[in-house]
Amino acid sequence: MSARYQISGATSAAISASVETAVRTGALAPGDPLPAVRTLAGELGVSPATVARAYRELRQRGLVATAGRHGTRVRPRPPVAARRAALLPPPRPGARDLAGGHPDRRLLPPLGPHLAALAAEFGPPTGYAETAVRPDLAAAARDRFAADGVPADELTVTGGALDGIERLLAAHLRPGDAVAVEDPGWANLLDLIAALGLRTVGVPVDDDGPTVAGVRAALTAGVRALVVTSRAQNPTGAAVSADRAVALRTLLAGRADLLLIEDDHAAELARVPLHPLAGATPAWAFVRSVSKPYGPDLRLAVLAGDEATVARVAGRAQVGAGWVSTVLQRLVLSLWRDPATAELVRRAADGYDRRRDGLVAALAARGLAAHGRTGINVWVPVPDETVAVTGLRDAGWVVAPGSLYRIAAAPAVRITVSTLDDTDLPTLADALTRAPVKGGAPY
Ligand SMILES: Cc1ncc(COP(=O)(O)O)c(C=O)c1O
Repeated sequence: MSARYQISGATSAAISASVETAVRTGALAPGDPLPAVRTLAGELGVSPATVARAYRELRQRGLVATAGRHGTRVRPRPPVAARRAALLPPPRPGARDLAGGHPDRRLLPPLGPHLAALAAEFGPPTGYAETAVRPDLAAAARDRFAADGVPADELTVTGGALDGIERLLAAHLRPGDAVAVEDPGWANLLDLIAALGLRTVGVPVDDDGPTVAGVRAALTAGVRALVVTSRAQNPTGAAVSADRAVALRTLLAGRADLLLIEDDHAAELARVPLHPLAGATPAWAFVRSVSKPYGPDLRLAVLAGDEATVARVAGRAQVGAGWVSTVLQRLVLSLWRDPATAELVRRAADGYDRRRDGLVAALAARGLAAHGRTGINVWVPVPDETVAVTGLRDAGWVVAPGSLYRIAAAPAVRITVSTLDDTDLPTLADALTRAPVKGGAPY
């Protein structure tokens, strides 16, 4: 944070506008603390209630979060675009960035040949009237869902998994409602929920998915939606197991007050079988993204669900953005139909599995416990995140502090393995052993 940035304003609206300006210009960066309410009130000569009102408004819009004794801080991804991304600390020359959570671009299938083939068969330009979910894409998606036991009579297409989740939450919930999320869980989802003016209730997660006790407690707390990551849970790599799916389906059976959302963002990259919860509740949706296996820039996910839920999502899109471009739909279909692309995805999945399993094994050999059953991340419990992140950075490895993903879960760091080479594993595992990471609590 710039210690010099002085929040100004004589009213709560002016104070919150001043904070927003600081976030926009980069004077306040993600994670930066805001002054304590009484301190700022004293500096500005206003009542503490005025500052508290300003902070509440910023919290409801998802710009800041208040966490007990840690005070109020700018959220990791506030819903106001910052003009100066340069405020991020410059990476040390030669440091390896394992913090991103992204697939390895070198392992994504090339789009060029598919675009060229499509160009050859494109007819006259498409107008408003011909747009919708393309029947051929819907049929292919249904086949894929059917193979995994997901009922998909009703489906639509969204601009990615997170776009689908946003549309689902907006269609079913009202500001102030609570959403049950995995803890630890995906940071962007936590930021989205805050930006929608919703509240989170954390559900502990183990290697088999959200715990039954955790979901039960969230239901008792009155959550209106539950988001479950089917496989490659971010950040722990958990995958919903067959037994856990049975237990959760039993617990959720018939709950008419709950919207059940499943996020299968890893899709074809997850090499473990899918155990869906789809259909356990009257209101449900299963979202499968193409980002991880085929490329995030395709911006496409297929969303299956009960008739009313799919109609709400599709109908709301119709009065807004309209549809996901049929150009992208055709491109995704071309990728799905291509055996050579399927082989590339299979090889990428093998590569991620090898890197992830290799790192977990290398850590186990050094006496360190880590989680990572599926996906591209490994979650390493540590006693102190700042000490671990700093120690690893000094050794040339940039990893993500678990605080971005945690609500009440124990401290940890998240390591994205997607770009690691086999030769990196012992060096990284040694660095982790030297950095004071031993003694972290499991989850
Ligand atoms: C749990 C989870 N869901 C969804 C996504 C992204 O999906 P999309 O690009 O389709 O929005 C990610 C990306 O990291 C993720 O970790």
